[in-house]
Formats: sequence, C-alpha cells, structure tokens
Amino acid sequence: MNDPSTSRTPDVYLATMPATLVAKRCALATCIVLFGGFFALVPFARVPLPRIEAFIPIYDSTFALNNLLTAGGLAVGFRRSRLFAVLVLAGGYLFTSLIALPHMVTFPGLLSSTGLLGAGPQTSAWLDAFRHGAFPVFVIYYALLKRRGTASAQSQADVRARARLAAVGAIAGVTFLTLLATAGQQLLPQIVNDGNYTTTMVAVSVPVLLLSFIALAVLGSRRQHSALDLWMMVVLCAWAFDVTLSTVINTGRFDIGFYSGRLYGMFAASVVPIVLIVEAARLYGQLDEARAISEERNAELARSREELAQAQRLEAIGQLTGGVAHDFNNLLTVVIGNLDLISGARGDWEKIERLAQSAMKAAQRGEHLVRQLLTYARRQINHPQTVNLNQLITNIENLMHRVIGEQIEVVSMLSPVLAPVRIDQAQFETAILNLVINSRDAMAGGGRITIETQNVTVDRQQVAADPEVIPGPYVMVAVSDAGAGMTPAVLARAFDPFFTTKEVGKGSGLGLSQVYGFAKTAGGYVKIYSELGIGTTVKLYLPQSSDWPILLKTSVETASLQSASGRETILVVEDDEDVLAVTAESLRELGYQVVTAVNAAQALEILKGDQPIDLLFSDVIIPGGTNGAQLAVTARHVRPDLKVLLTSGYTAAALSLEHGLPDNLNVVGKPYQRDELAKKLRLAIAE
Ligand SMILES: Nc1ncnc2c1ncn2[C@@H]1O[C@H](COP(=O)(O)OP(=O)(O)OP(=O)(O)O)[C@@H](O)[C@H]1O
Ligand SMILES: [Mg+2]
Repeated sequence: MNDPSTSRTPDVYLATMPATLVAKRCALATCIVLFGGFFALVPFARVPLPRIEAFIPIYDSTFALNNLLTAGGLAVGFRRSRLFAVLVLAGGYLFTSLIALPHMVTFPGLLSSTGLLGAGPQTSAWLDAFRHGAFPVFVIYYALLKRRGTASAQSQADVRARARLAAVGAIAGVTFLTLLATAGQQLLPQIVNDGNYTTTMVAVSVPVLLLSFIALAVLGSRRQHSALDLWMMVVLCAWAFDVTLSTVINTGRFDIGFYSGRLYGMFAASVVPIVLIVEAARLYGQLDEARAISEERNAELARSREELAQAQRLEAIGQLTGGVAHDFNNLLTVVIGNLDLISGARGDWEKIERLAQSAMKAAQRGEHLVRQLLTYARRQINHPQTVNLNQLITNIENLMHRVIGEQIEVVSMLSPVLAPVRIDQAQFETAILNLVINSRDAMAGGGRITIETQNVTVDRQQVAADPEVIPGPYVMVAVSDAGAGMTPAVLARAFDPFFTTKEVGKGSGLGLSQVYGFAKTAGGYVKIYSELGIGTTVKLYLPQSSDWPILLKTSVETASLQSASGRETILVVEDDEDVLAVTAESLRELGYQVVTAVNAAQALEILKGDQPIDLLFSDVIIPGGTNGAQLAVTARHVRPDLKVLLTSGYTAAALSLEHGLPDNLNVVGKPYQRDELAKKLRLAIAE
C-alpha cells in the first residue's frame, strides 16, 4: 500500500482509472482464449444443429438484462465523473439492451409463426444486424470523445438533462429501427430466405464487422488506456467473433456458427458488469483500509489534544501558583515586618497603632486578592438574589466616584424597563468596580466612562462560537471607555488570572478574572470589544430572571447595624486554634460571653448541658465527619431556639450542595473583620 500521507485520493471511476498491469494481462489472456475458441469453431460454423426453442428467449433476456445493468453502472459513473464519453457508452448499452426485446418477440416461430409486431421472416435478422452495427458506433463515439479530452457536464442539473437526453435518444433509436424492420421491411433488402442467409447478408455483415474493427482500432490507438477502455477492447473482440461466426461464415439460423456467435455476444454483454463488480469489491477493500487509517488518526489526534490540554492546564496552574505566591509574599512581608516592629515597640502606642494599621492594610489587600481568586474559581460564597441592576449601579455610584477620582466622569445610561437578574450583589459590585478601575487606568488623561444597561435577546447565531452560552433573554451591562484599548495579544489573555500589563504593585491581574468568574457563576458570560487607541467596551450578559426583584436596603439602613455589640453567650466551634483564639478575643471585645469547642462532638456535649447559649458560631468545615451545617441541624434538635451563624474560608458556590447547607442559614465569609462580624451576629441573633 502507498504511504497514506503522500497518496492522492485514488481515481475510483472505471472510465478514468488507468488500467493496471494485472488488468492488462487478464484482458490479454481473455482475448487469447476468445481467439482460440473462435479458431476452433471456424471449421464447424456451418454444421447445422437442431432448433432449441428456449435458446433465443434465454439469449435475448440475458443480453438485455446484462446490458441494462451495464448502462445503469455507467450512468452512475457519468453522474460522478460527468464525462460525456461515459454517457455515450451508457446510451449504447441501453440501446443494445432495449433492442433485444423486439428481436425476441419478432423472432419467427417463437411467439407466433412469423413473429409479433407485424414482423416478417427477416425482421429479427435485421434487428440483429442493427444491434451489431450500432454498438461499435457508440464505442467509436466514446473513444473520440475521450480523445478530445474532458468534455463534461457543468452541473448536476446538466448531468440530469444529458442523461435524460441519452435515454430518450436510445429509446427513439430502438423504436425507429423496430418500425423500419417491421412496418418498413419491404424497404430493406432480403438477407434471410427460409432460415438461410442470402448473399446480401454478407454485404450487410461485412460492414457491420468492419465497424467493430474500426472501434477496436480507434480505442486501441489511444496512448493511455483506462480500465474501461481496456475492457471495451475485450468486448469488441468478442463482438467481432460474434458477428463473424453468426452472420459472416455460417449459413443461417441454428447452425454451430449461429449458436456459438450468440454465446460470444452473451460473453461480450457480461464483461463490463463483471468488471464493475470486481472493481466495486476492490474499492470496498480500499474503503475499509482508509476507514481503519482514519480511525487510527482520529485516536492519535484525540490523544495529542488531550496531551496539549494537560500541558496547558499545568502551565495555567504554574502561572496561577506563581502569581499567588508572589503577591502573598509581598503582603506577608509587610504583615510580618510590621508585627516584628510591633513586638519591639515596647509600649509606644502611637507607633504600634501605625504599624498595626499598615499590617491591616496589607492583610486586607490579601483578603481582596483571595476574594477575586475565589470568584474566578467560582468558589466564592454565592448568595444570589433577584435584583434590578439599575438599583445596584445607582447604589454604588458614590463609591465609584470616590475610587476613580475627579478627572473621570461616569455616565449611566440605564434602561427604564430593565428585567431583573439573579446574582450575588457583592460580586456584581466588585465586578463593576473592577471594570471602572480598568477604564480609569486606561484613560490616563481623564475622560468619560459609560455604564449602560439593556435587555437583550441572544440568539443561537450570536453565540455559535461559544457552546457554553445558552441563547435566550439576558440583561446586558456594558462598561465603555475611550482609553488606550488593548492589542489583540493582550485581549486574548485579558481574562487570565494574574495577567496584567500594569507595573508591579499597580495591578495584580485578577480584576477581569473576577468579572469572568462572576458572570459564569451567574449563568452568563462576558465579551470584550477593544481597539487600540480607540477604547474598550466590556459587556456582561446575565440571564434574565422571572422572579420579582427584592427591594434593596439603602446604605443608611445597613450602616445602623455596623458597630452593634451584645451581651449574649456564643458557642464558637473552630478547629484551628489560632483562629479560635482570635475569634474568641474579638467576640469578647464585642461584649459577648464566649464558650469554645474544637469539634462537633464537643460542641454537642456543651449544648446538651445546661449552660445558656444564644448563638452557635461554627466553621463549615470542621473535623470529625460532621460539617458545620449538619452540626447546626443537630444542635437545633437539642435546642430548638438556638440561633446559628456559619463561617467558611473555602466556600464553594455549591456549598449548599456539597455540605448540605440549607438556604436559610446565615453565613459570614472568612476572613471577616470585626465590624462585619458584629453586624452579622446582630442580624442572626435578632432573627
Ligand atoms: N478598559 C481597559 N482598557 C485597556 N486595557 C484594559 C482594560 N481592561 C483591562 N485591560 C487590560 O487587561 C489587563 C488585565 O486586566 P485585569 O483587570 O484582569 O488586571 P489588572 O487591571 O491589570 O489588575 P487588577 O485588576 O487585578 O488590579 C490589564 O492589565 C490591561 O492591560
Ligand atoms: Mg483591573
């Protein structure tokens, strides 16, 4: 077999496929056998034999059927190759197939004494002569067309029209010649007399025989032979032997020449169907091989894709880990440095305060980083609510102005009929802030940021490139600027965590990662349109919700709870001793009585006792096979009025699924600051 990577698609049509050496040898051997048979028969051609009634019907119907099959096979070949030459040959085979029928029914003494269709004694002989003479003419035409090159149909419609024309032509030809041999028989010279051929027969047969030789010569004189050319030459040999035996050298009907000539004719009619079948079998074999190769290649391709994906995953993990390590190292350096200085400050309260604040700032930056990362990884606490985004955007307008400064104007174009969406408010606010900060950074000389909201319907066409996006109604929030824009290379990586073009200390490259993670968590997606020197628009698409939006509390209402403190008793469950110590300390400072437990069993033991406990404050992930949520449920069996507040540092969006966390439990994310904790505790106790 050829090397599959270098071989072209093989030529699969008989008419264009070059004849192989094996085929040439087979054809030659066949011709030699035909020739041998012919020479052996010549001396006996005139020996009379009895009339076999079944011979003519068997001969004609076999002949008609074989030629019809060949015509069909060639017509298919024409449809594929569109070569007119092939169509001409198909027409020739159809003609010889059809003319066998009138030949059979007009044969004297078969269906009636003179033959049907108003036939005379020599009608069938003439039809036979027409058949033998016409076929080589079709072959000559075929060979000439092939010689002229690649005359072919232009379109499928052209193919159909030409095929129809050829069929109609063949039928018309047969009809005309049948009429001539029946109704017009007086016009034709007498070639049969009482079952024997007249001398005129020789005058008719010799030109007919010559036509076969001419066809053979025209075909044979081509320099290169296709498989079809080769086998047509074999057909013509058999054809010429048929004519010679059955009409030139014999005496008339039912002698050895008559019978054996027709057997040659039958053989001629069988050659092309046999070749078609053999070729089809060979092509099936090739198809099988090709399929096996393509399956193997597909498997190989899938393997290398998998390997590439694995390599990319590893690279992404490396980049992420490197980024986290770098940023946290910096932050820890600040925290450790300040704490070092604090421990050496020895009562200089002013200095301690200053250092503590510096450490706190670094730690808060760390907290911010972690939140961004968690949102990107979609493992942030997700507390979705149905809201109207216009209201959220209006609520954070002041904050935005504070963050981006005086030089930049923020214009909101909010749709008055905006549909509600179900999202986590805090994450949305962070995402919008990340976007406006990016826009601010892109407009060094000041400018305008536009925030636009709009209901949109996303159709299948728009998201064809992204199979994860579901078509449907969305709320679109677009943040646009007329800033520096991004190069295609920056655009391609903009969502990557820790990808930043900003100088060290200015950006951590997590802003857009958070936006991306937020949109995905909310069931939506983000698109960036950016052009260098012109500006950038980031569009957030969030699925519309059919629920009613909740009414959001104003910042004044929430502020009143900010520094609340209480006198109740809190049971703290936390397995990390350091965290437990800090938490207990903070709670005591907020005025609460504190009882501690390091696992669920210990906590339950305390709850079963008679010590008054107002609130259970537990980590979600605690050792001992019971998580915080399960502990809360069990605890409420023991003390039905117990209030619960859970906390977690690593809390998946699917926390409720992973840890069986009921929706109505209060959760505060780690790390929390005292004010936030105080607020959540008051809310939980007041429930
Ligand atoms: N509006 C914008 N105009 C021009 N470039 C932008 C814009 N938004 C993002 N970029 C480019 O994409 C990069 C990644 O943005 P991303 O918000 O993720 O990180 P960052 O802004 O560099 O850092 P961080 O947001 O974490 O402080 C930016 O560094 C910047 O090059
Ligand atoms: Mg940013």
